[in-house]
Amino acid sequence: MLYSEKVMDHFQNPRNVGKMDDADGVGEVGNAVCGDIMKIYLKVKDGIITDVKFNTFGCGSAIATSSMATEMIKGKRIEDALELSNKAVVEALDGLPAHKIHCSVLAEEAVKAAVKDYYDRNNIPYDPAMFPADCSNCENCSAKK
Ligand code: FES
Repeated sequence: MLYSEKVMDHFQNPRNVGKMDDADGVGEVGNAVCGDIMKIYLKVKDGIITDVKFNTFGCGSAIATSSMATEMIKGKRIEDALELSNKAVVEALDGLPAHKIHCSVLAEEAVKAAVKDYYDRNNIPYDPAMFPADCSNCENCSAKK
């Protein structure tokens, strides 16, 4: 089967879907190639991510990976959310087909963008190198293959 049971589950029953009006950090990223867009909202209290929501205008894999990503960072410290890699999300979903890996990159980038927004809003200093520029124009993007 092309997709694991976990991918199908998170695609059909995505966790934490929705929008948050009083978010403490919002990240929106898009992939220029496939045109998909992902938005992640964070609620933060005392440095802990107490709630996460996501909205995506994207493919099934984008839905499944963002659903899993929100589950993985909920309850974590904000700086731990930055450690979340798309690889970890893909592993937690028992894999994705190679041509769908870029969808998980979108989830990782959206989480990072939301953390960056939180830092910016609260004047928390950070190393800009922690937030790579939007990778969607990168020549190596798997979406172009
Ligand atoms: Fe673009 Fe999946 S995020 S095809």
